[in-house]
Amino acid sequence: MRARQDYYTTPLATVAEFFVKFQELVPALDLTVAQVFDPAAGGCAENIMTYPAALRALGCENIDTLDIRQDSRAAIIADYMNFYPEKEYDLIITNPPFNLALDYIVTALEDCKSGGYVVMLLRLNFFGSLSRKEFFSNNMPLYCFVHTQRPRFNKNSSENAEYAHFVWKKGYNPPHTQTYLL
Ligand SMILES: C[S@@+](CC[C@H](N)C(=O)[O-])C[C@H]1O[C@@H](n2cnc3c(N)ncnc32)[C@H](O)[C@@H]1O
Repeated sequence: MRARQDYYTTPLATVAEFFVKFQELVPALDLTVAQVFDPAAGGCAENIMTYPAALRALGCENIDTLDIRQDSRAAIIADYMNFYPEKEYDLIITNPPFNLALDYIVTALEDCKSGGYVVMLLRLNFFGSLSRKEFFSNNMPLYCFVHTQRPRFNKNSSENAEYAHFVWKKGYNPPHTQTYLL
């Protein structure tokens, strides 16, 4: 059974592992000055918001957070599908709700600056769907960071999927996605 609003938390170690490689490949994105948005920020009384916590550990201070749940720790409580940010972002990053993942990517690409980055934690087989073939044909990710050690989410422990951080650079549609195994 899917959790309420598809809420579960990403381990901090998984996000930190992603950022080590991402910063090595994209040193020009200075997180200490970047405008960053997490539009499915999560968190609750028991759990931190993972992506903002990982970003703050890297010196990032300009982080807007949004979530639909009233009990989330996000600063903005709203439905991202009906939300229009007042600024454009250098980086939009999250683990989106599974059933809205493609809508999240499309919306985040709209909300991102030209040349900015959209990063989503997705199942690796997100690549392999006929229904998303047209989207990927027009929007190939620049990078795919495969987490060879499966993240241990605090949800249904029987889950058996591989996960990767997919990275789009707005305005770029590369012929191939550069793939890294973490
Ligand atoms: C898979 S959880 C990820 C939480 C957090 N990003 C993390 O990685 O630990 C997805 C989050 O999206 C939120 N959510 C679901 N639908 C949403 C919507 N339409 N707008 C905003 N947030 C939504 C849920 O409440 C949940 O906190």
